[in-house]
Amino acid sequence: MSDPSPVAAVRLVDYHPPPADMRAEVLQGLSRRRKALSPKYFYDARGSRLFERITRLPEYYLTRTERSIMAAGMGQMADAIGPGAAVIEFGSGSSTKIRYLLDHLRSPAAYVPVDISRSHLLRAAESLAADHPGLDIVAVCADFTRPFDLPPLAAARRRLVFFPGSTIGNLTHDESVQLLRVMNHVAGANGALLIGVDMVKDTATLEAAYNDAAGVTAAFNLNLLERINHELRADFDTHAFRHRAVYNAAAGRIEMYLVSQSAQRVRLAGREIRFAAGESILTEYSHKYTQAQFAELAARGGFVIRHQWTDAQGWFSVQFLERADAYCPEA
Ligand code: AVJ
Repeated sequence: MSDPSPVAAVRLVDYHPPPADMRAEVLQGLSRRRKALSPKYFYDARGSRLFERITRLPEYYLTRTERSIMAAGMGQMADAIGPGAAVIEFGSGSSTKIRYLLDHLRSPAAYVPVDISRSHLLRAAESLAADHPGLDIVAVCADFTRPFDLPPLAAARRRLVFFPGSTIGNLTHDESVQLLRVMNHVAGANGALLIGVDMVKDTATLEAAYNDAAGVTAAFNLNLLERINHELRADFDTHAFRHRAVYNAAAGRIEMYLVSQSAQRVRLAGREIRFAAGESILTEYSHKYTQAQFAELAARGGFVIRHQWTDAQGWFSVQFLERADAYCPEA
Protein backbone atom coordinates (compact mmCIF):
# COMPACT_ATOMS: atom_id res chain seq x y z
CA MET A 1 0.00 0.00 0.00
CA SER A 2 1.40 3.36 -0.90
CA ASP A 3 0.70 6.28 1.37
CA PRO A 4 2.38 9.34 -0.03
CA SER A 5 2.80 11.52 3.03
CA PRO A 6 2.55 15.27 2.44
CA VAL A 7 5.32 15.80 4.99
CA ALA A 8 8.82 14.88 3.83
CA ALA A 9 10.59 12.52 6.20
CA VAL A 10 13.56 13.94 8.03
CA ARG A 11 16.66 11.78 7.89
CA LEU A 12 18.94 11.97 10.92
CA VAL A 13 22.66 11.35 10.59
CA ASP A 14 24.05 11.17 14.10
CA TYR A 15 27.80 11.40 14.68
CA HIS A 16 27.15 11.27 18.44
CA PRO A 17 29.23 14.33 19.31
CA PRO A 18 30.22 14.29 22.99
CA PRO A 19 27.95 16.83 24.72
CA ALA A 20 29.69 19.94 26.05
CA ASP A 21 30.83 19.48 29.65
CA MET A 22 29.58 22.81 31.01
CA ARG A 23 30.76 22.11 34.56
CA ALA A 24 34.33 21.34 33.50
CA GLU A 25 34.48 24.23 31.03
CA VAL A 26 33.08 26.78 33.49
CA LEU A 27 35.42 25.64 36.28
CA GLN A 28 38.35 25.76 33.88
CA GLY A 29 37.42 29.24 32.62
CA LEU A 30 37.02 30.63 36.14
CA SER A 31 40.30 29.10 37.32
CA ARG A 32 42.34 31.04 34.79
CA ARG A 33 44.34 34.11 35.73
CA ARG A 34 42.13 36.04 33.28
CA LYS A 35 38.70 34.58 33.93
CA ALA A 36 36.55 33.76 30.90
CA LEU A 37 33.27 32.00 30.06
CA SER A 38 32.19 30.75 26.64
CA PRO A 39 29.39 32.76 24.95
CA LYS A 40 27.85 29.47 23.82
CA TYR A 41 26.40 29.17 27.35
CA PHE A 42 24.34 32.37 26.97
CA TYR A 43 21.55 30.51 25.21
CA ASP A 44 19.47 28.68 27.79
CA ALA A 45 15.70 29.29 27.46
CA ARG A 46 15.83 32.71 29.17
CA GLY A 47 19.04 33.71 27.38
CA SER A 48 17.49 32.85 24.02
CA ARG A 49 14.44 35.00 24.85
CA LEU A 50 16.71 37.88 25.89
CA PHE A 51 18.70 37.54 22.66
CA GLU A 52 15.42 37.71 20.70
CA ARG A 53 14.68 41.00 22.48
CA ILE A 54 18.21 42.27 21.69
CA THR A 55 17.57 41.72 17.97
CA ARG A 56 14.62 44.16 18.19
CA LEU A 57 16.40 46.91 20.15
CA PRO A 58 16.81 50.28 18.41
CA GLU A 59 20.58 50.26 19.11
CA TYR A 60 21.16 46.71 17.87
CA TYR A 61 21.40 47.38 14.14
CA LEU A 62 22.80 43.96 13.16
CA THR A 63 19.68 41.81 12.74
CA ARG A 64 17.47 44.33 11.00
CA THR A 65 20.29 45.51 8.74
CA GLU A 66 21.12 41.95 7.68
CA ARG A 67 17.42 41.30 7.01
CA SER A 68 17.11 44.36 4.77
CA ILE A 69 20.33 43.49 2.92
CA MET A 70 18.98 39.98 2.29
CA ALA A 71 15.66 41.34 1.07
CA ALA A 72 17.24 43.87 -1.28
CA GLY A 73 19.89 41.50 -2.64
CA MET A 74 17.93 38.24 -2.73
CA GLY A 75 17.49 38.17 -6.50
CA GLN A 76 21.22 38.59 -7.08
CA MET A 77 21.99 36.11 -4.31
CA ALA A 78 19.72 33.50 -5.89
CA ASP A 79 21.41 34.10 -9.26
CA ALA A 80 24.88 33.71 -7.75
CA ILE A 81 23.91 30.52 -5.93
CA GLY A 82 22.05 29.05 -8.89
CA PRO A 83 19.34 26.37 -9.02
CA GLY A 84 19.32 23.04 -7.25
CA ALA A 85 21.48 23.93 -4.24
CA ALA A 86 21.73 21.86 -1.08
CA VAL A 87 21.66 24.41 1.73
CA ILE A 88 23.74 23.51 4.77
CA GLU A 89 23.14 25.46 7.94
CA PHE A 90 25.86 25.45 10.62
CA GLY A 91 23.86 25.75 13.83
CA SER A 92 20.12 25.42 13.33
CA GLY A 93 19.13 28.50 15.27
CA SER A 94 17.84 30.95 12.69
CA SER A 95 14.74 29.39 11.23
CA THR A 96 13.27 32.66 9.92
CA LYS A 97 16.40 33.40 7.88
CA ILE A 98 16.70 29.89 6.45
CA ARG A 99 13.02 29.94 5.48
CA TYR A 100 13.50 33.23 3.71
CA LEU A 101 16.47 31.84 1.79
CA LEU A 102 14.77 28.54 0.86
CA ASP A 103 11.64 30.42 -0.24
CA HIS A 104 13.66 32.58 -2.65
CA LEU A 105 16.25 30.16 -4.07
CA ARG A 106 15.52 28.52 -7.38
CA SER A 107 14.41 24.89 -6.74
CA PRO A 108 16.61 24.14 -3.73
CA ALA A 109 17.40 20.42 -3.54
CA ALA A 110 18.05 19.85 0.14
CA TYR A 111 18.21 21.44 3.57
CA VAL A 112 20.93 20.14 5.89
CA PRO A 113 20.92 21.62 9.39
CA VAL A 114 24.02 20.75 11.44
CA ASP A 115 23.90 21.11 15.21
CA ILE A 116 25.49 19.56 18.28
CA SER A 117 22.09 19.57 20.05
CA ARG A 118 19.92 16.70 18.79
CA SER A 119 16.72 18.28 20.16
CA HIS A 120 17.32 21.72 18.57
CA LEU A 121 18.28 20.01 15.36
CA LEU A 122 15.21 17.81 15.08
CA ARG A 123 12.87 20.64 16.01
CA ALA A 124 14.34 22.86 13.27
CA ALA A 125 14.30 20.06 10.70
CA GLU A 126 10.76 18.91 11.40
CA SER A 127 9.23 22.37 11.41
CA LEU A 128 10.85 23.07 8.05
CA ALA A 129 9.81 19.71 6.63
CA ALA A 130 6.18 20.52 7.39
CA ASP A 131 6.34 23.61 5.15
CA HIS A 132 8.65 22.27 2.40
CA PRO A 133 7.35 18.79 1.48
CA GLY A 134 9.50 18.61 -1.66
CA LEU A 135 12.78 19.22 0.10
CA ASP A 136 15.27 16.50 1.04
CA ILE A 137 15.96 17.23 4.70
CA VAL A 138 18.97 15.66 6.36
CA ALA A 139 19.61 16.59 9.98
CA VAL A 140 23.26 16.11 10.92
CA CYS A 141 24.10 15.89 14.61
CA ALA A 142 27.75 16.88 14.82
CA ASP A 143 30.20 19.29 16.42
CA PHE A 144 30.90 21.59 13.49
CA THR A 145 34.05 23.02 15.04
CA ARG A 146 35.72 19.82 13.78
CA PRO A 147 35.75 18.39 10.24
CA PHE A 148 32.89 16.00 9.43
CA ASP A 149 31.49 14.44 6.26
CA LEU A 150 28.00 14.79 4.85
CA PRO A 151 25.97 11.76 3.78
CA PRO A 152 25.02 11.57 0.08
CA LEU A 153 22.33 14.16 -0.69
CA ALA A 154 19.55 14.05 -3.25
CA ALA A 155 20.94 15.25 -6.58
CA ALA A 156 22.18 18.74 -5.76
CA ARG A 157 23.94 20.98 -8.26
CA ARG A 158 26.12 22.39 -5.53
CA ARG A 159 26.38 22.74 -1.78
CA LEU A 160 25.88 26.12 -0.13
CA VAL A 161 26.80 26.73 3.49
CA PHE A 162 24.61 29.44 5.10
CA PHE A 163 26.01 31.19 8.19
CA PRO A 164 24.06 34.40 8.87
CA GLY A 165 23.90 36.75 11.85
CA SER A 166 27.60 37.60 12.25
CA THR A 167 27.91 34.51 14.41
CA ILE A 168 31.48 34.23 13.07
CA GLY A 169 32.21 37.37 15.11
CA ASN A 170 32.32 35.30 18.30
CA LEU A 171 35.44 33.55 17.03
CA THR A 172 39.03 34.79 17.04
CA HIS A 173 40.67 35.17 13.63
CA ASP A 174 42.41 31.80 13.89
CA GLU A 175 39.22 30.07 15.03
CA SER A 176 37.36 31.70 12.14
CA VAL A 177 39.88 30.35 9.64
CA GLN A 178 39.50 26.89 11.17
CA LEU A 179 35.70 27.10 10.84
CA LEU A 180 35.94 28.38 7.26
CA ARG A 181 38.13 25.36 6.46
CA VAL A 182 35.49 23.00 7.87
CA MET A 183 32.87 24.79 5.75
CA ASN A 184 35.17 24.53 2.75
CA HIS A 185 35.51 20.78 3.29
CA VAL A 186 31.77 20.27 3.82
CA ALA A 187 30.83 22.42 0.80
CA GLY A 188 32.99 20.20 -1.40
CA ALA A 189 33.98 20.77 -5.01
CA ASN A 190 32.20 23.82 -6.45
CA GLY A 191 30.91 24.64 -2.96
CA ALA A 192 29.88 28.08 -1.76
CA LEU A 193 29.23 30.05 1.41
CA LEU A 194 26.71 32.83 2.15
CA ILE A 195 27.75 34.55 5.37
CA GLY A 196 26.72 37.60 7.41
CA VAL A 197 29.63 39.75 8.61
CA ASP A 198 29.47 42.83 10.84
CA MET A 199 31.74 45.66 9.71
CA VAL A 200 34.09 48.05 11.52
CA LYS A 201 32.37 51.37 12.20
CA ASP A 202 32.52 54.25 14.67
CA THR A 203 33.02 53.29 18.31
CA ALA A 204 29.89 55.10 19.55
CA THR A 205 27.57 53.09 17.27
CA LEU A 206 29.28 49.82 18.18
CA GLU A 207 29.29 50.42 21.91
CA ALA A 208 25.64 51.56 21.92
CA ALA A 209 24.64 48.27 20.24
CA TYR A 210 26.08 46.35 23.21
CA ASN A 211 25.05 48.85 25.93
CA ASP A 212 21.37 49.40 25.11
CA ALA A 213 19.44 51.94 27.15
CA ALA A 214 16.80 49.39 28.18
CA GLY A 215 19.46 47.16 29.76
CA VAL A 216 18.53 44.02 27.81
CA THR A 217 22.15 43.24 26.87
CA ALA A 218 23.17 43.65 30.53
CA ALA A 219 20.43 41.19 31.53
CA PHE A 220 21.56 38.80 28.76
CA ASN A 221 25.15 38.93 30.02
CA LEU A 222 24.19 38.55 33.71
CA ASN A 223 21.86 35.65 32.86
CA LEU A 224 25.01 33.59 32.31
CA LEU A 225 25.62 33.73 36.07
CA GLU A 226 21.99 32.85 36.79
CA ARG A 227 22.25 29.86 34.49
CA ILE A 228 25.43 28.73 36.26
CA ASN A 229 23.64 29.15 39.61
CA HIS A 230 20.76 26.90 38.45
CA GLU A 231 22.68 24.29 36.55
CA LEU A 232 25.95 24.04 38.50
CA ARG A 233 24.81 24.67 42.09
CA ALA A 234 26.56 28.01 42.34
CA ASP A 235 25.74 31.06 44.44
CA PHE A 236 26.68 34.05 42.30
CA ASP A 237 25.08 37.27 43.58
CA THR A 238 24.16 38.75 40.21
CA HIS A 239 23.79 42.20 41.82
CA ALA A 240 27.47 42.07 42.74
CA PHE A 241 28.50 42.00 39.04
CA ARG A 242 28.10 44.66 36.40
CA HIS A 243 27.79 44.35 32.60
CA ARG A 244 30.59 46.03 30.62
CA ALA A 245 30.96 46.15 26.82
CA VAL A 246 33.81 48.06 25.15
CA TYR A 247 35.15 48.29 21.63
CA ASN A 248 38.80 47.26 21.40
CA ALA A 249 39.73 49.12 18.22
CA ALA A 250 43.21 47.57 17.95
CA ALA A 251 41.72 44.07 17.98
CA GLY A 252 38.59 45.08 15.99
CA ARG A 253 36.12 43.63 18.44
CA ILE A 254 33.52 44.35 21.08
CA GLU A 255 34.54 42.70 24.34
CA MET A 256 31.88 41.89 26.93
CA TYR A 257 32.72 41.41 30.56
CA LEU A 258 31.04 40.83 33.92
CA VAL A 259 32.86 42.98 36.47
CA SER A 260 32.94 42.05 40.15
CA GLN A 261 31.84 45.07 42.17
CA SER A 262 33.65 43.94 45.32
CA ALA A 263 36.07 41.35 46.63
CA GLN A 264 33.92 38.21 46.93
CA ARG A 265 33.90 34.42 47.00
CA VAL A 266 31.51 32.28 45.01
CA ARG A 267 30.69 28.60 45.60
CA LEU A 268 30.47 26.60 42.40
CA ALA A 269 30.09 22.81 42.11
CA GLY A 270 31.74 22.29 45.49
CA ARG A 271 34.62 24.69 44.80
CA GLU A 272 35.31 28.27 45.80
CA ILE A 273 36.09 30.96 43.23
CA ARG A 274 37.59 34.24 44.45
CA PHE A 275 37.11 37.61 42.83
CA ALA A 276 39.05 40.79 43.55
CA ALA A 277 37.15 44.09 43.50
CA GLY A 278 37.04 45.22 39.86
CA GLU A 279 38.12 41.83 38.50
CA SER A 280 36.28 40.87 35.31
CA ILE A 281 35.12 37.74 33.52
CA LEU A 282 35.40 37.88 29.73
CA THR A 283 32.10 36.54 28.37
CA GLU A 284 32.13 37.38 24.65
CA TYR A 285 34.08 38.69 21.70
CA SER A 286 32.15 40.12 18.78
CA HIS A 287 34.63 40.77 15.97
CA LYS A 288 34.05 43.47 13.35
CA TYR A 289 35.82 43.39 9.99
CA THR A 290 36.96 45.67 7.23
CA GLN A 291 36.38 44.21 3.77
CA ALA A 292 40.14 43.68 3.35
CA GLN A 293 40.41 41.86 6.68
CA PHE A 294 37.50 39.58 5.87
CA ALA A 295 38.90 38.85 2.40
CA GLU A 296 42.16 37.77 4.03
CA LEU A 297 40.31 35.41 6.40
CA ALA A 298 38.33 34.03 3.46
CA ALA A 299 41.53 33.36 1.53
CA ARG A 300 43.11 31.59 4.49
CA GLY A 301 39.96 29.47 4.68
CA GLY A 302 40.25 28.51 1.00
CA PHE A 303 37.50 30.80 -0.31
CA VAL A 304 37.28 33.68 -2.78
CA ILE A 305 34.72 36.45 -2.22
CA ARG A 306 32.58 36.72 -5.38
CA HIS A 307 29.94 39.24 -4.24
CA GLN A 308 29.18 41.35 -1.22
CA TRP A 309 26.00 43.19 -0.37
CA THR A 310 25.83 45.94 2.21
CA ASP A 311 23.53 48.66 3.55
CA ALA A 312 23.80 52.36 2.62
CA GLN A 313 25.97 53.05 5.69
CA GLY A 314 28.22 50.04 5.16
CA TRP A 315 27.46 48.78 8.65
CA PHE A 316 26.77 45.11 7.89
CA SER A 317 27.47 42.83 4.95
CA VAL A 318 26.29 39.59 3.43
CA GLN A 319 29.09 37.95 1.45
CA PHE A 320 29.01 35.23 -1.20
CA LEU A 321 32.15 33.10 -1.30
CA GLU A 322 33.16 30.24 -3.53
CA ARG A 323 35.84 27.65 -2.96
CA ALA A 324 39.12 29.01 -4.26
CA ASP A 325 39.41 25.90 -6.47
CA ALA A 326 35.79 26.18 -7.70
CA TYR A 327 36.74 26.68 -11.33
CA CYS A 328 39.69 24.29 -11.58
CA PRO A 329 38.47 21.06 -9.98
CA GLU A 330 41.26 19.06 -11.65
CA ALA A 331 43.99 21.16 -9.98
C1 AVJ B 1 24.82 36.33 18.07
C2 AVJ B 1 27.18 36.54 18.29
C3 AVJ B 1 26.03 37.73 16.56
O1 AVJ B 1 27.89 39.34 18.68
O2 AVJ B 1 26.26 40.69 18.24
C4 AVJ B 1 24.38 40.38 20.98
C5 AVJ B 1 25.54 38.17 20.30
N1 AVJ B 1 25.93 39.64 22.30
N2 AVJ B 1 24.52 41.23 22.00
C6 AVJ B 1 26.70 39.59 18.58
C7 AVJ B 1 25.28 39.37 21.15
C8 AVJ B 1 25.45 40.79 22.80
C9 AVJ B 1 25.67 38.47 18.84
N3 AVJ B 1 25.93 37.28 17.96
